[in-house]
Amino acid sequence: MASSTLICNTEPWKDLKAHVEEIKKTHLRDLMNDTERCKSMMVEFDELFLDYSRQCAQKDTLDKLLELAEAAQLKQKINRMFNGEHINSTEDRSVLHVALRAPRDKVISSDGKNVVPEVWKVLDKINEFSERFRSGSWVGETGKALTDVVAVGIGGSFLGPLFVHTALQTDPEAIASAKGRQLRFLANVDPIDVARSITGLNPETTLVVVVSKTFTTAETMLNARTLREWISSALGPQAVAKHMVAVSTNLTLVEKFGIDPKNAFAFWDWVGGRYSVCSAVGVLPLSLQYGFSVVEKFLKGASSIDEHFYSTQFDKNLPVLLGLLSVWNVSFLGYPARAILPYCQALEKFAPHIQQVSMESNGKGVSIDGVPLPFEAGEIDFGEPGTNGQHSFYQLIHQGRIIPCDFIGVAKSQQPVYLKGEMVSNHDELMSNFFAQPDALAYGKLLSEKVPKHLIPHKTFSGNRPSISLLLPHLNAYTVGQLLAIYEHRVAVEGFLWGINSFDQWGVELGKSLATQVRKQLNASRTKGDPIEGFNYSTATVMTKYLE
Ligand code: F6P
Repeated sequence: MASSTLICNTEPWKDLKAHVEEIKKTHLRDLMNDTERCKSMMVEFDELFLDYSRQCAQKDTLDKLLELAEAAQLKQKINRMFNGEHINSTEDRSVLHVALRAPRDKVISSDGKNVVPEVWKVLDKINEFSERFRSGSWVGETGKALTDVVAVGIGGSFLGPLFVHTALQTDPEAIASAKGRQLRFLANVDPIDVARSITGLNPETTLVVVVSKTFTTAETMLNARTLREWISSALGPQAVAKHMVAVSTNLTLVEKFGIDPKNAFAFWDWVGGRYSVCSAVGVLPLSLQYGFSVVEKFLKGASSIDEHFYSTQFDKNLPVLLGLLSVWNVSFLGYPARAILPYCQALEKFAPHIQQVSMESNGKGVSIDGVPLPFEAGEIDFGEPGTNGQHSFYQLIHQGRIIPCDFIGVAKSQQPVYLKGEMVSNHDELMSNFFAQPDALAYGKLLSEKVPKHLIPHKTFSGNRPSISLLLPHLNAYTVGQLLAIYEHRVAVEGFLWGINSFDQWGVELGKSLATQVRKQLNASRTKGDPIEGFNYSTATVMTKYLE
């Protein structure tokens, strides 16, 4: 691809650049008075309500962004993804996480083969296995039923399942199905994380699920060996067969590790790690905890958004609108970060998951054809549930840097509390903040009260700070699936518009190979007293201190 075909060289991009000057003359304080404008910036789908009227944008901004989508061939790129074309060109792979939650009778092909039957073969196997596990017919080495699960994995093999588990943990339906079981995660190679994951658990009643797409990730394999040792030292090496199962695309390495291939749950190289929560990566541990029928609802929720994303016109399409607005904020208004602010404690692990989905996908410096990008792509995602975040980093958002915010609210709480004598329920109190914050950011505050002159600049809020509000009817397995898919597709839309490959992650490889070099050196120094060689002065000095 010649640099002339970069998206920034198209007319719609240039037009949007020029349009920034017009938008800079507006203020959300005024834009919010235009009811017709606000009406046109609200979209509803399947009880999900998106209000993007607090974006620094006018109706014609949207028109121009839609023209940009056309210039970027967004529709064609979405189709190519759903058609199983190898859009992850640097790894020569399809990108088909949508197939993981497709209904049984759907046809989605990769390399000329319908992959949906394979997907359902694994889902059926999970259903059957989790049934045996949960009913107590699968017993451990000492004949006891297994009640607890430790899922060992990192990155995409951890963050998505953790997010979904945390969201379901307080859902009444999920609580009823969990029946006192425990699901824990072990991700960090830090021995502290090992201790946290097994403290209080009995190996006799614990199942370890090793989750790794490649089955080579250093942290996961060391943690897997550590828990294998925990089991075999307590119950004997033969116990591994009954207390360890695996999820991977590399079934040969699973077997080499000592896990019975019958107890391995496959997925495929057309599933990117960070997009794998709907594969056995998430479905197995979550089904062991909550039962397959609950997890199936999660898959259905994600699938409903896949359908919406694929078939809805762009100006009513939730992931497309969100993706277009993200690109507007990052590449045109120059706001590189985004805060993900769920007003729902059950979504506390949503931002960490989306951080990986977004930043590992779109943190790229070259176009899909390898041409250096003359503009910034990717965004810096972070977040915390409200209201906690309000007492932490919101100061910067209100009066410091401009950070577009995603406010996510839930109409009906999983755990309603009404205290006698209080003005509102605890949930209404939470949601009062959900409604107040976007306006505080949009309007700001001009001082009307009497304050000493020197305090005026400190107590003034400039406002004009953009946000979106997304209201979910309730938080359950189905809507958690929807939320996940909206954000997955939003990230894809951004990448398609920027013209990058959102589905590879070469940038994480360098650190891994340098760690290998350090590991060798630490071993040689500790066991043979070898001097530290081959590192720069700084690294060598700190390593020496560490070894001392
Ligand atoms: O962090 C890089 C990465 O490759 C992620 O993309 C992936 O989700 C994670 O490592 C774990 O990889 P695996 O599932 O192969 O252990």
